[in-house]
Amino acid sequence: MPMYSEEDIDEVRSRNDIVDVVSSYIQLKRKGSNYFGLCPFHSEKSPSFCVNQAKQMYYCFGCHKGGNVFTFLMDYNQSSFPEAVEELADKCGYNLPKQELTVEQKKRQTKKTRLSYLYKDAANYYYSKLHSNVGEVGMHYFRDVRCLDKETMRDFALGFADGKWDSAYRFLRDKGYDDELLKDSGLVVFDEKKGPRDYFINRVMFPIVNERGEPVGLGGRVLDNSKPKYLNSRENELFLKRKTIYGYNIARRTRRDMYILCEGYMDVIALHGAGFDNAIAALGTAFTKDHALKLKNSGKKIYICFDSDTAGVDAALRAIGMLRLLDVDCKVITMGQYKDPDEFIKAEGSEAFEDRIKNAENSFIFAIDKRREDFDKDDPEENNRFFRNMAGRIALLKTDIERENYIVVLSERYGVKSDSLRELIRDVSKNEREMSIVRDELYKGFSEDDLRDNSSNAKEDIRGPGKRIDTKKKSDEGLRETEGILLTWLFEEPRLYPVISKYVSADDFQEGIYREIASDMFKAYDSGGEFDPAQIMCNFEDNEAHNAIAKMLHTKIEGIETDRDKEVLLRETLIKLKNESLKSVDKSQPEAGKKIRLIKEEIRKLQTEDLL
Ligand code: UTP
Ligand code: MN
Repeated sequence: MPMYSEEDIDEVRSRNDIVDVVSSYIQLKRKGSNYFGLCPFHSEKSPSFCVNQAKQMYYCFGCHKGGNVFTFLMDYNQSSFPEAVEELADKCGYNLPKQELTVEQKKRQTKKTRLSYLYKDAANYYYSKLHSNVGEVGMHYFRDVRCLDKETMRDFALGFADGKWDSAYRFLRDKGYDDELLKDSGLVVFDEKKGPRDYFINRVMFPIVNERGEPVGLGGRVLDNSKPKYLNSRENELFLKRKTIYGYNIARRTRRDMYILCEGYMDVIALHGAGFDNAIAALGTAFTKDHALKLKNSGKKIYICFDSDTAGVDAALRAIGMLRLLDVDCKVITMGQYKDPDEFIKAEGSEAFEDRIKNAENSFIFAIDKRREDFDKDDPEENNRFFRNMAGRIALLKTDIERENYIVVLSERYGVKSDSLRELIRDVSKNEREMSIVRDELYKGFSEDDLRDNSSNAKEDIRGPGKRIDTKKKSDEGLRETEGILLTWLFEEPRLYPVISKYVSADDFQEGIYREIASDMFKAYDSGGEFDPAQIMCNFEDNEAHNAIAKMLHTKIEGIETDRDKEVLLRETLIKLKNESLKSVDKSQPEAGKKIRLIKEEIRKLQTEDLL
């Protein structure tokens, strides 16, 4: 991975105005000092995507994504940071020097980078084993048992771990990786008596790669029916199961307008081999909210194609719950008599699968059909309960139109009068206990936190009244907002700095990214310089930090019409911040008493002194 110097990165950034760059992808309209357009990262009908020239940042008030020019390209094109730098350098005709890392830089490489090299080397090692003499059994398995062709094996960089104790260990050690890193990677197990031993022995290997195709983990399957069938390397700084989507690096380039979401490695691989380059899977873990959000951001539809067994159906219902909750368009493809898509493809071929895609089922109806099976059709009492359950589900739909559409289809499907169904919906929706049972059923397996809507404009907890987010979180969010107001304000009106810095310092901000940014900003202003958040962002590797920085510097400041309003709000905000600081003083520390007195004194001043 190339690394560029800060100077180069900054030069490229300053030569590419964010308004120009973003407008080449989406249409923007000027509104005051901002430009607005439809957000490319979530679906919306009225523009909440804001680009600010002075800040050289963008921020979406709807889905809270934000960042600088580089973040935009990384998110829009699903590319890496260096790729974004290169693209913009090209665009403005800037020559980036290709540079090798110096010995000093290599030493400073973070653990993340070292792990990334390690996994790359390990994946290459297993790959070449598969293509060597020792790998013949593995090759036989992939080629003859699983019917994969050479291209597919190459696309997924499939490999083989031989039957020896420690051949991967010795290979990687000779490459220069130390025992500690090897242990952390999970690729080698260190036994006190027996010494180092490979984690994967006599297995066919599946590299797990990130969106850029870089290996971050490995899965290994036995060649027979022994257990455990699959082993997966453990999570690490680069690999979080709840965020990783297998096959996504390839699938995200598909021209189709949907992804086929399956359960296993082999399903994804078999589908790709059969020409479905849009197959993906959530591996070794259930489908999570993080997976769902990532897919939502792609803007594509999701066709769920899980295993036909009960576990597969349950998992599909869970995924449907989460996807629908996030307003992701999803459908279901069933495999009939076949166990999974891999088996289906082998038996019926791609055309038959293409038909399945065409005939994919509506996910809302699929879930109701499945629920039907839990009630005895011959028992009127049970029928009654089934219809009430269905009515509850319909009641939870977001709009009247949606409800009406389903009433028409479902009353027909289940042979009831649509008016009776309407009446039932009115009745059930008044019954809080019944409604809460339906909600639990729809969203089972997801935590309160998962169910909090952080992707749409809705302020309300999606589970509706009665279920509250715990208050600690609420107050944290309130505090973040207070801090955001102050930082946004300071950034937009630096002349307030002398006033504000009289009372607060960066230490008054909550630990974490808010404090880091406050500290950078205060330092810049102290030295009479400017604060450039779009530049500072480049110091943070992960896009979530960029989103957070954009968010804090786009906090809406409302209710200011006169200078007097301004003073009132400023005073209120500063006092709030000070009060939080007061609460967070660690009373067991020796200087605590003194600190508390100081803060109290500052609050007293804030209450009485003229600010503006
Ligand atoms: P399945 O048992 O359905 O496997 O598990 P499969 O994909 O059909 O496997 P084949 O066709 O027999 O090779 C689905 C997924 O669950 C994870 C793997 O990611 C697998 O692909 N899994 C399964 C494990 O992590 N460990 C296991 O022991 C089994
Ligand atoms: Mn299978």
